Amino acid sequence: MQHILEELERKRAAARLGGGQKRIDAQHAKGKLTARERLELLLDEDSFEEWDMFVEHRCTDFGMAHTKIPGDGVVTGYGTINGRLVFVFSQDFTVFGGALSEAHAEKICKIMDQAMKVGAPVIGLNDSGGARIQEGVASLGGYAEVFQRNVLASGVIPQISLIMGPCAGGAVYSPAMTDFIFMVKDSSYMFVTGPEVVKTVTHEDVTAEQLGGATTHTTKSGVADLAFDNDVEALLMLRRFFNYLPLNNRDKPPVRPSGDAPDRLIPSLDTLVPENPNKPYDIKEAILKVVDDGDFFELQPDYAQNIVIGFGRMDGHTVGFVANQPLVLAGCLDIKSSIKAARFVRFCDAFNIPVVTFVDVPGFMPGTSQEYGGIIKHGAKLLYAYAEATVPKITIITRKAYGGAYDVMASKHLRGDVNLAWPNAEIAVMGAKGAVEIIFREDKSDPAKLAAREAEYKARFANPFVAGARGFIDDVIQPHETRKRICRSLAMLKDKKLDNPWRKHGNIPL
Ligand code: HXC
Repeated sequence: MQHILEELERKRAAARLGGGQKRIDAQHAKGKLTARERLELLLDEDSFEEWDMFVEHRCTDFGMAHTKIPGDGVVTGYGTINGRLVFVFSQDFTVFGGALSEAHAEKICKIMDQAMKVGAPVIGLNDSGGARIQEGVASLGGYAEVFQRNVLASGVIPQISLIMGPCAGGAVYSPAMTDFIFMVKDSSYMFVTGPEVVKTVTHEDVTAEQLGGATTHTTKSGVADLAFDNDVEALLMLRRFFNYLPLNNRDKPPVRPSGDAPDRLIPSLDTLVPENPNKPYDIKEAILKVVDDGDFFELQPDYAQNIVIGFGRMDGHTVGFVANQPLVLAGCLDIKSSIKAARFVRFCDAFNIPVVTFVDVPGFMPGTSQEYGGIIKHGAKLLYAYAEATVPKITIITRKAYGGAYDVMASKHLRGDVNLAWPNAEIAVMGAKGAVEIIFREDKSDPAKLAAREAEYKARFANPFVAGARGFIDDVIQPHETRKRICRSLAMLKDKKLDNPWRKHGNIPL
């Protein structure tokens, strides 16, 4: 019996060595951790239960029959993060460059299927040369099996991708269908075709980093949510991020008790908004002051900065924050910001996370570049997302709420549960200047008359009380009581129930 036990340990040790010490050293030399080292950092100590350690590929072409490595380039299983269940796969670049074979895909599918059965998130650590070239179409089939599961799991269990090496070709579409993508700077990249193909087809000279590195995807394309300096930082931040999320769409997000009193008053908010309505201020200050312990996990901070999104907690409960940012493009809604916020609102709605919206929006961004780019369709995404959301929705208008953008930003009319305004709020069809130039066109040649009209319009409409008189705003509040009012509203909405009519699915303007 003893020799059988020893044989098992020998087999396990061989599997743990992956592609061998030389390739492990090469991985370390690139500043990257191995697949197993990454899982050790991501999961709670001694919580990892590995599956399919002895799976091998079935390929016999190109001499592959003699090149089998147990595990076949991906480590899969489940474990816990701060005691909460999660399924994981971690691609092992030391084994065939982490390339995806049919067997490798089957391993990923197996943990995805199990995660769906028990209702737990899936985290994928991607580090792969793509389709296993020796396997051809069998590998493509494997990818498609994963894609299909990504789609069926969407909105049922949270799916998170951490890109820690190459991710190219069709392989990018599995992460693309997960809820969040994090990347590691200088060692990860994502693109549908690499620099050589780009050179041939479009004659552009571009490096892999420029084409699809972490900076590109967190500043230019918006494909990724966050970029981290190295593997360790990325994995530790992913652990922090995980704590905000429920395990599945029937679960509630975890509660983290805090010593931060829910009725804490914030006197400095009374002077946050400048008297001059054209002067900017940083809306993140409002969020940071309002959330528990000033702890706000921002997503996509370097992309479409005219809108801010991220998670925080209010009286211990996870909340998704969306806020127009007056510091950038005056907080206008444009194509990128609408898409950024729409996807976030839909995630929150799918996973029972209340949405708190801070509004200071002068309208949609005008111009040909926006119109030609389809702002009508893309702006509609945000409108659609807010309108279909049934989670608790709390809106605070801190200053401007003009035009269609007023409607879009979680207004009462889109089933906002609690809509509050600060006393300086201006809720109107447009700013006073633009308005009088249209309705008093005949006075255009008389600046004094026009100024008087503007003052008149401002006095009549640049306040929250016209909307208040119609009940579009539930209350006008002192800025310093914002946290208290949000916490109370969330407590009131704790058991909110609202269903949309039955349908196969809606047709969001894609
Ligand atoms: C099989 C692969 C492989 C692959 C890498 N390897 N990619 N084996 N299939 N796709 C192997 C290498 O042969 C090598 O084996 C080891 O992994 C490490 O690769 P290196 O090239 O030495 O590493 P590096 O210099 O870091 O370059 C990494 C790389 C490069 C940029 C990823 O390997 C590369 O370009 N690979 C091919 C990428 C590719 O074209 N994939 C298919 C894309 S199409 P040894 O034994 O020497 O260590 C695709 C379609 C998906 O993925 C469609 C889904 C629908």
